[in-house]
Amino acid sequence: MKILHLYYTSTGNTRKVAETIDQALNNAGHQVDSVKVGKNTGDDINLLDYDMVFAGSGVYEWLPGKSMQDLFGRLRRKHAENGDIKPASPKRSGKNAVIYCTYGGVHTGINEAIPAVKFMGQLFDHLGFTILDEWYVPGEYVPEKMQKFSEAGRMGDIRGRPDAHDLNEVAQKVNGILRV
Ligand SMILES: Cc1cc2nc3c(=O)[nH]c(=O)nc-3n(C[C@H](O)[C@H](O)[C@H](O)COP(=O)(O)O)c2cc1C
Repeated sequence: MKILHLYYTSTGNTRKVAETIDQALNNAGHQVDSVKVGKNTGDDINLLDYDMVFAGSGVYEWLPGKSMQDLFGRLRRKHAENGDIKPASPKRSGKNAVIYCTYGGVHTGINEAIPAVKFMGQLFDHLGFTILDEWYVPGEYVPEKMQKFSEAGRMGDIRGRPDAHDLNEVAQKVNGILRV
């Protein structure tokens, strides 16, 4: 099974989740092409080369980070030009994805993270991947001037998250996905 992992992190929370995913995959005997997305990353990627893709990002203004949005735009255009995105987006057997985010949710909780995950998921849905799961992991607000948000919002106190418990849950979910 060929596995790709695309993730964007600005303040480091998603990196913790991403490293946990990669470690769990490695522990289960799988190799993974793991790509930390930055400006102009990933243009050589062909998503259809992979059987399983993990894609994750921190949530910024309800969407994935800008570099992730831009990469997904470029990949969508490339796959559209190649004729890979067909009307009705028929399923491709053996092509699966897991989409995840870390989010702070200070104002509306998980509702402000859902658009980010749906945004990333659409590219895979358009290509005929089956989205096996969506993971929403709380992530504290790291910049000093935003730290009050980690206690003041709908999520309650999310200081220190993702914590060891969150990361263990992610590792267990990776094991669960591998059973699919
Ligand atoms: C500038 C900024 C904007 C953010 N905007 C949102 C937002 O709109 N919705 C949300 O749920 N969390 C928001 N967050 C919280 C982040 O999504 C959360 O801390 C996440 O774990 C960051 O991931 P990263 O450290 O991998 O970049 C924001 C954080 C920052 C620093």
